[in-house]
Amino acid sequence: MVSLMKMKLFFIPVLISCFIITPVQSQTIKSVDLKNSKKISPDLFGLFFEDINYAADGGLYAEQIQNRSFEYSPSEKKEWNPLSYWEYITPGYSYGSISVETTAPINGNNPHYIVLNAEHIGKEEKYVGQSGVGIKNAGFAGIVVRAGEQYNFSGFAKQLSVNPVTLTVSLQNTKGEILAESSISIASNNWKKYTTSLTAKAGFDTAALVILATTPGKFALDVISLFPEKTFKNRVNGLRPDLAQLLADMKPKFIRFPGGCLAHGDGLGNMYRWKNTIGPVEERVEQRNIWGYHQTAGLGYYEYFQFCEDIGAKPLPVLPAAVSCQNSGGTWRVGGTGQKAIPMNEMREYTQEVLDLVEWANGPVTSVWGAKRAAAGHPAPFNLQYVGIGNEDKITPEFEERFKMIYNAVKEKHPEITIIGTVGPSPKGDDFEKGWKLAGNLKVPMVDEHYYTSPEWFMGNQTRYDSYKRNETQVYLGEYASWGNKLRNAIAEAAYMTALERNGDVVRLSSYAPLFAKNNFTQWKTDMIFFDNVKVSPTPNYYVQKMFASNSGDIYFSNVVSKDNADTALAASCVQDSKTGDVVLKLVNFGKESKTMKINLSGFKKINGEAEQITLTGSPDAENNLVNSNNVVPVTAVFKAGKQFNYQCSPLSLTVIRIKTK
Ligand code: AHR
Repeated sequence: MVSLMKMKLFFIPVLISCFIITPVQSQTIKSVDLKNSKKISPDLFGLFFEDINYAADGGLYAEQIQNRSFEYSPSEKKEWNPLSYWEYITPGYSYGSISVETTAPINGNNPHYIVLNAEHIGKEEKYVGQSGVGIKNAGFAGIVVRAGEQYNFSGFAKQLSVNPVTLTVSLQNTKGEILAESSISIASNNWKKYTTSLTAKAGFDTAALVILATTPGKFALDVISLFPEKTFKNRVNGLRPDLAQLLADMKPKFIRFPGGCLAHGDGLGNMYRWKNTIGPVEERVEQRNIWGYHQTAGLGYYEYFQFCEDIGAKPLPVLPAAVSCQNSGGTWRVGGTGQKAIPMNEMREYTQEVLDLVEWANGPVTSVWGAKRAAAGHPAPFNLQYVGIGNEDKITPEFEERFKMIYNAVKEKHPEITIIGTVGPSPKGDDFEKGWKLAGNLKVPMVDEHYYTSPEWFMGNQTRYDSYKRNETQVYLGEYASWGNKLRNAIAEAAYMTALERNGDVVRLSSYAPLFAKNNFTQWKTDMIFFDNVKVSPTPNYYVQKMFASNSGDIYFSNVVSKDNADTALAASCVQDSKTGDVVLKLVNFGKESKTMKINLSGFKKINGEAEQITLTGSPDAENNLVNSNNVVPVTAVFKAGKQFNYQCSPLSLTVIRIKTK
């Protein structure tokens, strides 16, 4: 009844060409006062990247070989060892031996390698096919080979016998048919990198790499790698183009890396130490992934910063606050009592490690760490602006002492860096309170809030940030998601995101989490993009994030959209991008019935009547999967906008309307 009365007062709907546009009788609406606006963060919507669910190795990182450096170990999975995912093969009645060695590795960081001794290469008349002694690797559930495309093989090898050894390198389908082939001769008594490229004459989705010694001899092998020539932006040691492109399409303003819990690690020895992840891949330190598998660090800090630059996103590295995850050792089962702290006598060195990251990213090529960046191929600075210290750590006295040390050191040496503190894993509670208190005492510029909760929570807590103090510590909503990847989850998140925009003067950054999940390799159920080796399935949540991030603004207008404020299923925002002048409306209806919102753009001098309208709608339980990846996708149309109009929001929908003002 109330809403009907309001509607009568507001407007008399008149249908023109479609159900959506209803011009408003001008005498019933006053010009909108554009002074009723505020500046908001230009970096509000970004991405959270963590190597969880095989997001990096086996995912975004385009390396095709699994366990390329023979570093898999039972401490990662009890059934793993250095030969996991490798098969020793002796086709054609050949014989020899294989062993895993550690006595003379390429680099101490990468201790295991294999020694193959091809004693006899079979030459039986009745045998059809390749004979030899070697190894086979089927990657992460198969290597995708596409007809006509090029694959770049590389491997380190050392001749151990008197004679050089000839190796054939091939890609084979599951019947052993050769899709691509090349050969190399191992003729160096020292470790040497050998490369060759393979062009596929036929395609196959679950191929394997086969390396066979076809002449007798003994040799060592390590860091055996296969990359498709086509990586994102054709970068060497690059990224899978389809997955990277999905991220680029979102136009995220920043990318957080490397996590999540991966950053602070499962015990002190498992922390993500950035220096271990730069430089030649064969010298990087591989380690156990906190999510129960293996990290090659092939997608390390350099590749991450390069990717940020490639897609125009700011880097946002999160470094451990010198304490490990409180759940280390599986202690989440007994209340998260597993936090370990770097001893105080090592803290000066650790603090320097944090400072060195800033120098590596931003320092001149003449600086120690800037020179390493330049040597890797990037003399220009990366313009690092944000650094996170800690990830949802338990706020203990040990944490506080170490955080303070790191914070003070970075603040003193790099006042230009925005340091982001941490306030626990929940939207409230002990760590949240203590983390905020610490941030207030130290005047930390920003803190990282995390919450994974129900769609109803997101709908019911849209005023959360309305009362946050404006001129004190600001907020990075670093991890959030509603439990699920159905449309209703995504629309609840969309409603919440309009509240983030409304509070974009205090919430400066936000990122949905986690980002990627490889089918059958997941540790976390609700994710933004599902994929397998061939296909991708962006969730409705992805589309919501994309619609917001690629239509963000830096000025917020509080009085352009009017709606029935008593209707808690409705949410809306209006922003302007000061660079383009475009005005963007985001209209959300979480309800079961269509609802009208009233738009008043009369305060803008000029608007272009041909606007872009993107709508995401469908049934509440609709979701995408790898078989039907297009169940829920946004639909784009031209929208005839007037200075004042009414918009009929479909049930369960997010609509973005982008209007040019220049
Ligand atoms: O996003 C998945 C995990 O959730 C992150 O690693 C951690 O920070 C949070 O608990």
